[in-house]
Amino acid sequence: MLEIGFGMGEATAQMAAADPGTNILAVDVHTPGQGNLLSLADRGGLTNIRVGNGDAIILLREMLPPDSLAGLRVYFPDPWPKKRHHKRRLIQPEFLGLAATRLRPGALVHCATDWEPYAEQMLEVLTAHPGFANTRADGGFAPRPGFRPLTRFEGQGLDKGHVVNDLLFRRVQHEGRRNH
Ligand SMILES: C[S@@+](CC[C@H](N)C(=O)[O-])C[C@H]1O[C@@H](n2cnc3c(N)ncnc32)[C@H](O)[C@@H]1O
Repeated sequence: MLEIGFGMGEATAQMAAADPGTNILAVDVHTPGQGNLLSLADRGGLTNIRVGNGDAIILLREMLPPDSLAGLRVYFPDPWPKKRHHKRRLIQPEFLGLAATRLRPGALVHCATDWEPYAEQMLEVLTAHPGFANTRADGGFAPRPGFRPLTRFEGQGLDKGHVVNDLLFRRVQHEGRRNH
């Protein structure tokens, strides 16, 4: 299970403790957060967390083989609210194309954001990608599943009155699929 952008890692450590049968690879560029998560794992005696130091795109593209992931979690990625910065957002068609090759069929893709225009963008690009299917019959957002704790960044958003949306999609096999 790959988690991209775990921040200070509190939610990651909680999920790892609650689900010892799942091995979590958590990647972030933020060094103090990496130290914090390693320390939480150590103190909690958690053996199912590995921490990656660096850019998730490089990890996905250069270090993970096709079909190697049972799931992907992206919780409160940087929203980049200004229009000229939208291209910096993580959840884009190109990223999904790369992620799709690393996720095995049936893998769950779970995103959450407190920035509503980004939530709409996530829904649009995930729905448009032939390699993913919405787990919601109504094709919309999902309620926060019980396994996802509130995150630090989410708490800050809620304090500002932001609305949080979760998205739960499944990796589906499709014709013409290529692993590259
Ligand atoms: C807004 S914070 C959210 C942190 C945490 N998920 C939470 O909800 O509290 C986004 C995180 O994504 C990380 N990040 C941004 N781009 C990244 C990338 N390309 N690869 C790995 N981590 C990234 C940032 O360093 C930051 O810790």
